[in-house]
Amino acid sequence: MIREAIIADKQQINNLGLKLNSNYDKLFKLEDILKEDYAKILVYEKENKILGFIHVNIFLDDSMDIMNIIVDRKYQRQKIGTKLIEYLLTSNDIKKMTLEVRASNNKAISFYKSLGFKIVHVREKYYGNEDGYLMVKEV
Ligand SMILES: CC(C)(COP(=O)(O)OP(=O)(O)OC[C@H]1O[C@@H](n2cnc3c(N)ncnc32)[C@H](O)[C@@H]1OP(=O)(O)O)[C@@H](O)C(=O)NCCC(=O)NCCS
Repeated sequence: MIREAIIADKQQINNLGLKLNSNYDKLFKLEDILKEDYAKILVYEKENKILGFIHVNIFLDDSMDIMNIIVDRKYQRQKIGTKLIEYLLTSNDIKKMTLEVRASNNKAISFYKSLGFKIVHVREKYYGNEDGYLMVKEV
């Protein structure tokens, strides 16, 4: 099931985030994010276990920036990521989605391309030595 995150999800969300970024729990504080009216975090839960989550910011009602999306490695390629994005699209009147991704993150780039995102800009050395791709999907 997909639902909005609550503060009690903090540990499970952090555990997923920390697998990707060892500073995740310092960079993103769930209690602060949940207070922002433009921010949304959805979790994909099965049998009380969070298998994935997405964190987005929604601006001007119809523009959505994906801050993060992570699916537990054991459950990847089961369309959980796709379902999280589709859920946001059906529950909000979104016209445009944007995100920033490391140029080396081929897995995520393939994922976003499968959903119709296109690389529209290369931000050189955006991640230290690494370029960042700005990807956009017009809905
Ligand atoms: C990117 C991520 C969220 C995708 O989630 P997912 O639930 O595994 O993705 P889905 O099952 O919905 O994949 C949909 C399609 O995306 C593409 N795709 C997804 N993972 C892929 C991979 N490892 N290699 C190539 N294509 C991939 C495929 O076209 C896939 O469809 P298919 O399985 O029918 O071929 C997941 O790989 C992840 O958590 N990665 C680590 C975190 C990360 O990098 N997040 C992005 C930060 S910008």
